[in-house]
Amino acid sequence: MKRSDGYELNIGILGCGAIGSRIAHSITDEMKMFPVSLAGLYDIDTHKSKDLAAQLKDPSLAKATFQDLLDHSNFIVEAVSSTETVHLIETILAQKKDVLVISVGQLLNADHLFKLAKSNQCRILVPSGAIAGIDSLKACAQIGFSQITLTTRKPISGFKNNPYIMKKGIILEQIQEETVIFDGTVDDAVKAFPQNINVAATLALATRSKDKIRVRISASPKFTKNSHEIEAVGDFGRLLTRTENAVCPDNPKTSYLAVLSAIETLKGHCGSSRIGT
Ligand SMILES: NC(=O)c1ccc[n+]([C@@H]2O[C@H](COP(=O)([O-])OP(=O)(O)OC[C@H]3O[C@@H](n4cnc5c(N)ncnc54)[C@H](O)[C@@H]3O)[C@@H](O)[C@H]2O)c1
Repeated sequence: MKRSDGYELNIGILGCGAIGSRIAHSITDEMKMFPVSLAGLYDIDTHKSKDLAAQLKDPSLAKATFQDLLDHSNFIVEAVSSTETVHLIETILAQKKDVLVISVGQLLNADHLFKLAKSNQCRILVPSGAIAGIDSLKACAQIGFSQITLTTRKPISGFKNNPYIMKKGIILEQIQEETVIFDGTVDDAVKAFPQNINVAATLALATRSKDKIRVRISASPKFTKNSHEIEAVGDFGRLLTRTENAVCPDNPKTSYLAVLSAIETLKGHCGSSRIGT
């Protein structure tokens, strides 16, 4: 189905892990009324793209190369775990394709990507991920913030083998009650917990106030879910949000809400007008 302005989304999925697979299924199962089609799948592990294509009953969806995926798509969903992610997004934008970025942490210090999107008249879409209140925070960003605090609470198991924890000499097994294991800036949080940076990065991008954000991360054996609490203060008043996230059924490292918010962002884009970044 084409949109009233004639634009039809031919979506390529880059990365066929937990999030990419869920989104691919959602496009074929739930978006039939949208002007959208699944154009291709690519994963560096070609078994994954082939398996997913087989599940979707269309082996031709599995593309042999990243460029092949780009050639078949006008919109890419980036869902990779890679050290090359910034370069991959740059390649997508250089070829004038819109992109939904799931690895939001990779956008944190990559202003050149937003500049490239602007000059090539394409969009970088960012889902709200595992936190709530992003719409209000974006509204508040117009007048700015005096203080923003992100408090992330995770079970002890979420920090196993983390180099920062080992360097600080924190013995996870000795923690009995809620214990703050990090208190600092977004940039330092990103360095210390590179696997958990997406929430802090999403908050920094939405508020456009990275330097006003204090990140606190705590652990306790009593926590059973990852929770994220945001407190933002400014001339608008005080905003408080909290999510308690169940894990994604396909991947215990990912919050289910992060996957659902990516799908909702995609659906919103399918129905919305095509404007610049
Ligand atoms: N925005 C959020 O709130 C949020 C939440 C959770 C996860 N994430 C991020 O989303 C991304 C995907 O998460 P996931 O749970 O699906 O991970 P996953 O590990 O299940 O899947 C990632 C896939 O990327 C593939 N891959 C790696 N390098 C590649 C490359 N160069 N080209 C193509 N494919 C490549 C891997 O083979 C794997 O199949 C991660 O970067 C993760 O940090 C974001």
